[in-house]
Amino acid sequence: MEHMEEYKKTVELLRFHGQGHLLAFYDQLTSLQKQQLLDEINALDFSVIPYWIENYVKTNGNVGIPDHFEPAPSHPPASASAQQSNKYDQARLMGVDLISAGKVAAFVVAGGQGTRLGFDGPKGDFPIGPVSNKTLFGIFAETILAARKKYDTPIPWYIMTSPLNHAATVDIFESNDYFGLGKSDVSLFQQGANPNFATDGKILLADKCTIASSPDGHGGSLRALYKSGALADMKTRGIEQISYWQVDNPLINIFDPLFIGLHALDGAEMSSKALVKAHPMEKVGNFCLVDGKVAVIEYSDLPDEQAHRRNPDGSLVFELGSIAIHVISTAFIEKLNAHGFALPIHRAVKKVPHIDAQGNRVVPTEPNGIKLETFVFDALPLAEKSIILQTVRSEEFAPVKNATGDDSPEVTRRMMIARAADWLEAAGVKVPRTPDGTPDCILEIAPSFALHREDVAEKADQIPAIMPGDQLYLA
Ligand code: UTP
Repeated sequence: MEHMEEYKKTVELLRFHGQGHLLAFYDQLTSLQKQQLLDEINALDFSVIPYWIENYVKTNGNVGIPDHFEPAPSHPPASASAQQSNKYDQARLMGVDLISAGKVAAFVVAGGQGTRLGFDGPKGDFPIGPVSNKTLFGIFAETILAARKKYDTPIPWYIMTSPLNHAATVDIFESNDYFGLGKSDVSLFQQGANPNFATDGKILLADKCTIASSPDGHGGSLRALYKSGALADMKTRGIEQISYWQVDNPLINIFDPLFIGLHALDGAEMSSKALVKAHPMEKVGNFCLVDGKVAVIEYSDLPDEQAHRRNPDGSLVFELGSIAIHVISTAFIEKLNAHGFALPIHRAVKKVPHIDAQGNRVVPTEPNGIKLETFVFDALPLAEKSIILQTVRSEEFAPVKNATGDDSPEVTRRMMIARAADWLEAAGVKVPRTPDGTPDCILEIAPSFALHREDVAEKADQIPAIMPGDQLYLA
């Protein structure tokens, strides 16, 4: 019988690990499906799965918080940097040098499931431009093209997908002709996936020949960069620093000479941008110092009394929130992977559609399963040196997370318009506003027109007068 040897070995393996149910429907499968299932099972990493089950599936082994932690030091935002101007000037020059020398790569993590947004397709394909309706991927691509022009250097773009959306993402790039960036300078690679578990430790089946699984978290990017060969590719191109961002944030300043320069000047291995939290309980990770190392404590782990603690001047003691914007050195990623590295596992209890013991499809209405992920910020304490640069929310952070309400496309578009209005006014352009101060027009500045606020002034004479109710796309 076909696959017999492999089948027998797999039965033994699963029996040993108490996962024999994964082959319960084997006899009902076609030859192709049998091979698919055997391949999936044999790709499971049973050197770690029993440990995960005991420590994260059957019990909540999430690390929790350390005994001692304090606020992490940070560099003030560029706008408040008068006292640091020498260092900031030096850093900016260094950042420009690194970008111009082709030593900085762009890297977006786009392997998430985007469940909250509920968009049918990879999140990067979501149309977000307030006037142009351009997609997130489209805006990032234009930013990279504009930076190539500005810095006169080829800049490669790396995109991490997951097994769930890789094919769909490749299709988007193919059908858009790689957004004009050239196929050879755009690398799409997949992160890993972890099986989903029932609370009793049994691995769930999505259907009779497929294991239920989900991407291994944005922390998986640090391994996937290495395993996929993307890091090796970066080395051949002479890349030293990676500008890391999330696919949901169209305000991202991918090529920030100040941030890249401060990171390099301080000899940091992995650095972060931070925001002052909008309120004590804002759902962002908190930057802390643990044993002298920068670390992020999740909002759900920071005790309320710590979250509310204030300094004599009224500011929050733990005021810096993480926004998943990093610069990471290629050498650091190589070092992390050299000896089989693992980030701490985080468990999440989620709704996991699956089939039951009778083969019936179950679409749960309540969380029923365990997903295991790693988080990229957990690599921060592993860095010898890590700096934090504060930034301003309205300039750089407007993530599309939810279909409605906070962090929805509507809010993101409003913030894109607001930033465009600020940039125009800073260049002396008059922007009509309603009595409450919001722009009374729909504005969009394409990256080809201005990558940074300062770029607008050079083109101010090309901007037509803006009337109330106008729609203006500057490209
Ligand atoms: P989120 O934490 O917002 O998750 O990801 P998500 O999967 O996109 O959305 P929800 O929670 O299902 O609604 C933040 C960033 O990390 C990426 C996402 O693509 C997004 O850019 N990510 C997340 C990955 O690349 N892989 C993952 O496994 C998880």
